[in-house]
Amino acid sequence: MSDSAPAREAWGSRIGLILAMAGNAVGLGNFLRFPRQAVENGGGTFMIPYFIAFLLVGIPLMWIEWGVGRHGGLRGHGSMPGMLESLWKHPVAKYLGVLGLFMPVVVLIYYCYIESWTLAWTWASMRGATQGLDQQGMQAFFKSYVDLDNGTVHGFWTPFAFFFITIAVNFYVVSKGITAGIERLAKIGMPILFVFAAILVVRVLTLGTHEVMIDGVLTQSSPLDGLNFMFTPDWQALANPKVWLAATGQIFFTLSVGMGSLQAYASYLTKKDDLALSGIATAATNEAAEVVLGGSLAIPAIVAFFGVAGATAIAKGGSFDLGFIAMPLVFNQLPGGATMATIACMMWFGLLFVAGITSSVAMATPALSFVEENFGWTRKKTATFLGGIALLIGILHLVYYTQGFLDEWDYWAGTFGLVILALVETVVFVWIFGPDNMWREIHEGATIRIPRFFKFIMTFVTPVFLLVMMIWWTIQEAVPTLLMENIPEADHTIRWVSRGIMLAILVFQIFLIKAAWRRRALDGKEVA
Ligand code: PHE
Repeated sequence: MSDSAPAREAWGSRIGLILAMAGNAVGLGNFLRFPRQAVENGGGTFMIPYFIAFLLVGIPLMWIEWGVGRHGGLRGHGSMPGMLESLWKHPVAKYLGVLGLFMPVVVLIYYCYIESWTLAWTWASMRGATQGLDQQGMQAFFKSYVDLDNGTVHGFWTPFAFFFITIAVNFYVVSKGITAGIERLAKIGMPILFVFAAILVVRVLTLGTHEVMIDGVLTQSSPLDGLNFMFTPDWQALANPKVWLAATGQIFFTLSVGMGSLQAYASYLTKKDDLALSGIATAATNEAAEVVLGGSLAIPAIVAFFGVAGATAIAKGGSFDLGFIAMPLVFNQLPGGATMATIACMMWFGLLFVAGITSSVAMATPALSFVEENFGWTRKKTATFLGGIALLIGILHLVYYTQGFLDEWDYWAGTFGLVILALVETVVFVWIFGPDNMWREIHEGATIRIPRFFKFIMTFVTPVFLLVMMIWWTIQEAVPTLLMENIPEADHTIRWVSRGIMLAILVFQIFLIKAAWRRRALDGKEVA
């Protein structure tokens, strides 16, 4: 019952809440994943399905997840199993909610590993370690960091040390709780992030024209060519389903929807809090950070120095070449010499670290709330325990990165799984709980009224869009990925191990849900 739910923490202020939610959404996805996806999928061509997906699933899911989260939170649930059950009194509901524990934990672990690189690169920039390196040098610097067998540049333990620090800082922040930990981090971090990004954007856009060798011909290229590329669609290429999947996947990842973490944050809202305006404000902030800042940083910078063809080749080369190899190379060529290169590099990787940590603490929240609320552990104890697990499992990513261990997690939990959770929660909240109840729930305490046609979109268009995407995704990508087409034979074993560990985490969490509900029954606590 809602009255018997124990008092939960609440956000300290509206601005704190919006910054925390924006911190959740604005992450490595905005500054690393977006430019890569956009360039790889044809720039302007990518932007059309991107905006369509933003309107038809991004914004609706933002409101749905805030609604689901607050509804559950008011009844004492900070994670998806309880939230779904409070909307749908069916024994299976809580088990469907396992996705909202599984995905944030899995993504958290590999995300923190990438986040630890940004810390390592910030440190390296401060020491001037990447200064004066040419393309080969920068590549070697990167390869030696991620491939432990090839430690020509970095010490063997260096990546472990940065990973350890990253996990420790993350779990220290969450152990402090919502207002003193997460909200405070966002209040300090988000302004820094925006200032750094804005300074870098101005620097990049004023770069001027450069001579670039394209197909053996010396050509002029400027940052504006990058912007042009971003906003000039090739209409014919839109017939390619790959572009649609990539764009929808990016909308999911960047807005943090389909994961369980927005819901966890929203569970700390009260009845009086506005959700309609804050939800859209969060989505808009994320899009500004992604398209305006993220899009005006890496893409124009790299196009100015490598041309559109060069940038595309870099984006296709590897997930992280753009951010960790090409960007420092660009900075090394800025007028102003070594000092300028150092400052720009520190700002770039520093901003990535801040963007990363304000997102990773959000991924830690659902599992933390789940253990805290169901097993009566203190937040500190839970944070230490979960941090330890993340650290241990994360070591596998460090060791097997080059064999595609991380790619498996990124695909199944960070891409495909998001659509499944989104579909499940939309069906439960909109159809089972009911469209009118959903609409009322979202407007409780709201300072604006959402235009009515969004009710229609959320009831019909969003679920159909999700269903179509899921089927398309399964046929186009998930099945070939599952069968490991295009994966070298030699890596199959590691990839199966990688999947096995994910599966073990999933099964373990299902048992935890079972145990939690048994405990509730013994305590005579009826699930509200
Ligand atoms: N939205 C974050 C990013 O763009 C990633 C994220 C996904 C964070 C899901 C929390 C939950 O990097």
